[in-house]
Amino acid sequence: MSCQISFPNSAYDPLTLDLHTPLANELTVQNSPILFGCRTGICGTCLVTITGDIAPPNTEERELLDILAPDCLNARLACQIDLTHDLEICPYEIKM
Ligand code: FES
Repeated sequence: MSCQISFPNSAYDPLTLDLHTPLANELTVQNSPILFGCRTGICGTCLVTITGDIAPPNTEERELLDILAPDCLNARLACQIDLTHDLEICPYEIKM
């Protein structure tokens, strides 16, 4: 089984990845607009908005999302996503 990851409003082509593939292992600056830092859910570099069906964030991810994107219900940390369905992913745009 595989999932399609697409990047709306970007020039990047969709990717097909196996279920449960860590996005931080596959998404690079060459194939996606998503950047990663720590890859462990601490730094917030990979903050994105998601359209699609994924499990809710765990407590640690939720706490960081509440700080980084308090008003965005579909904000997630890309490095913490368990890939189970097709997703659309966009970098989170910080509102100034
Ligand atoms: S890469 Fe640091 S939180 Fe995801």
